[in-house]
Amino acid sequence: MQAVDTPFGARKPVAGISAEPSSGPFSLTDEAAYRAWRETKLAAHPTDPTALAVDIVDPLAPSRAELAAVATAVARADMCLYRFVDAPTDESHARRAVSALAAACGLGRFEKHRSAGPDGLVAIEVAADAHRSGFIPYSTRPIGWHTDGYYAYEGPSRAIRAMVLHCVRPAADGGVNALFDHEIAYIRLRDRDPALVEALMRPDAMSIPPSVEEDGSVRDWAVGPVFEVDPATGGLLMRYTARKRHIVWADDATTRAAVTALEEICATDPLVFRLRLDAGQGVVCNNVLHDRTGFGDDAHSTRLLYRLRSYDRLFASPGLADAPGVRALP
Ligand SMILES: [Fe+2]
Repeated sequence: MQAVDTPFGARKPVAGISAEPSSGPFSLTDEAAYRAWRETKLAAHPTDPTALAVDIVDPLAPSRAELAAVATAVARADMCLYRFVDAPTDESHARRAVSALAAACGLGRFEKHRSAGPDGLVAIEVAADAHRSGFIPYSTRPIGWHTDGYYAYEGPSRAIRAMVLHCVRPAADGGVNALFDHEIAYIRLRDRDPALVEALMRPDAMSIPPSVEEDGSVRDWAVGPVFEVDPATGGLLMRYTARKRHIVWADDATTRAAVTALEEICATDPLVFRLRLDAGQGVVCNNVLHDRTGFGDDAHSTRLLYRLRSYDRLFASPGLADAPGVRALP
């Protein structure tokens, strides 16, 4: 790959190693494997998000049956919508509950985020402090479609594979999340034209220019693919943002068509789930596509969500949950 000039400066070249595997459902040359995986996936994926809901009585000690239900939901749609039956209302209890559930689902390695506490959790709330103000997650503004950690790329082994988003307090108004299984997005794109997927699996498909972080440090260019296969689990990883500024797509017609198609799919697909998390509810997922509408706080309700990002894929370790119907990883 040639280094090219952009409005942000010279893009750093990357090694020209294709992210596309030679076999399996995410290989463009293994149509039989893709067809088999696709049929299984579409048959298992629910059309109603209530099918992915699981009640957890004691989040500090989820039962085997509860974990099996979570694992089954994740196997179907890469996400589970959970509800703590006796939702902790104090923040330290809520933090412990989210940490315990994450651990029970196999998440143990967490992103060292500059705004995270020692438990890895980041409070997503309107913040006026110097570190967080000016960053959209800590405002009332909407957030477009993305997967977490898209702005970094250090190879698939450092991808954000899973994420938990837990609501302690909803906003007075708004703050609706949309969730979309990234494996379904992959299917939609490949069904339109495999060339779209091929473009997004190139190692220079999506580049994020250097930026100044919350702690004042400067993040270097992040150049990598949108889709790639996780070498550790065989699962599909996705790195994406719908933002228009501060992003450089590969400069070719197929990539541009793929980006446009992905925007259309996220805007219209019937398997996009929109929901407003209430107090004590959350989503645990394999870093699926998601967005957020803007919201309004008032004196009685200030929105507080906890977010946990992990380098581990949910239930990737054997024996975590004995879930009937849990799909073997491709
Ligand atoms: Fe996010």
